[in-house]
Amino acid sequence: MIAAAAHAAAGPDVAGPDVAGRDVAGPEAAIPEAGSCPYMVLRKPDTVREVLHRPDDFSPANALLAVTPLSGQSLRVLQKARFALPPVLASNDTSTHAGIRKVVAGFFTPAKVAAMEPRIRELARDSAARARALLDSHGTVDLVQAVAAHPPAIVMMELLGLPVRDLPQLKAWSLDSLELFWGWPDPDRQLELAHSAAAFYHWLRDLVVESVESPQGQSPQSPEQSCPNLFKALADHGLQTPEICSLGYFLLIAGQETTTQLISTTLFRLAEGSRGISWGEGSSALKARDLVRHVLATESSVPTWRRIAARDTELNGRPIKAGEEILLELTGNHGFPWADASGNERVGPTPYGLAFGSGIHRCLGAKLAELEAAVVVQETAAALNGIRLQDSAADWLRLLSFQAPRTVTVERS
Ligand code: HEM
Repeated sequence: MIAAAAHAAAGPDVAGPDVAGRDVAGPEAAIPEAGSCPYMVLRKPDTVREVLHRPDDFSPANALLAVTPLSGQSLRVLQKARFALPPVLASNDTSTHAGIRKVVAGFFTPAKVAAMEPRIRELARDSAARARALLDSHGTVDLVQAVAAHPPAIVMMELLGLPVRDLPQLKAWSLDSLELFWGWPDPDRQLELAHSAAAFYHWLRDLVVESVESPQGQSPQSPEQSCPNLFKALADHGLQTPEICSLGYFLLIAGQETTTQLISTTLFRLAEGSRGISWGEGSSALKARDLVRHVLATESSVPTWRRIAARDTELNGRPIKAGEEILLELTGNHGFPWADASGNERVGPTPYGLAFGSGIHRCLGAKLAELEAAVVVQETAAALNGIRLQDSAADWLRLLSFQAPRTVTVERS
């Protein structure tokens, strides 16, 4: 079943992009007025954490449902491509989740992530050098395309033992699919996005079949050693091709585009100079890491995530009906920002504990994303000295659960 189809029957359209912003509901479990927003919006960190830690009451089954119900035409395009997102990992509320999660977690152990650091730095330095060359030749450079876009995708594919190919296409498909499932496209745009998702799914199914049939990927740390790729490992665990495709569809997007977005926002704030860290200071490993953590706490690339009440229950003494959809705020409401005398935010020891979720579905790529973002920011700041933001009014991607500047164009100051 296409996940989005279930949502079409579940409720009204959501409100506009401000749902992911600040003022949809009060600071605590406010039930939005009928017709405005179909979600109960929870913002208080303790309450958000409690919901995430009660998976039997609050299921992730709605995590990947389309925010804007799919039209019949869009559904037909997806069905023709045999597109389906059966619950496997992020939206799986059954007992199979733990075993599947263990298989995926094996590809992102702390040791494997730490061992990847030299490779991440190499990719970050190469991108930063290319960005500097573009700056020298053109006078400006967009850091989203030049340094944020590709390193996370390359690192993810290498860690998963999958071939690194078709990166520009993967990036375009990722943005389209995020908009299709978490955005508010009009019918024409939705149809366009459905065609893109169908093309991505074809590509993915071919990759899954190929990877299961020729299981030996290359170990990223020791290319002379072979290791099983993720898709083969999932097949060995007993998953069928549609289930592997469903997991792959989520992971190949979430495992790199979210990090690209975190890097983009961090570089935007650094170039803007609005977070108490100058561009030059960003070349320090500690400052770069602090700024990444600050962004995770205040305006993470995944600002919200969804849950649905699995049964009649209560939260902080309020009754909640089975089927109630809940929007959890993960970032931006943790007692920040601390403003200095001039009103600028100050980076401090930021608690960002909810940016990656919490509990049994907590993000498996948290350490990797943080490391990648800090290294790319540091290497970019080191390579491009004396720059400033050219377009401080850049367009931002604002979806229900994803956000970032679309461009971070800088010039010599
Ligand atoms: C800045 C980057 C990222 C952010 C902000 C982020 C955020 C999140 C959030 C909020 C969730 C839902 C957690 C929950 O339901 O409790 C999640 C789940 C997940 N993330 Fe990430 N993520 C990022 C990068 C990554 C990367 C790099 C990978 C892997 C390469 C990854 C893999 C996953 C997986 C596999 C899940 C599902 C876990 C499960 O359901 O058991 N993420 N992520």
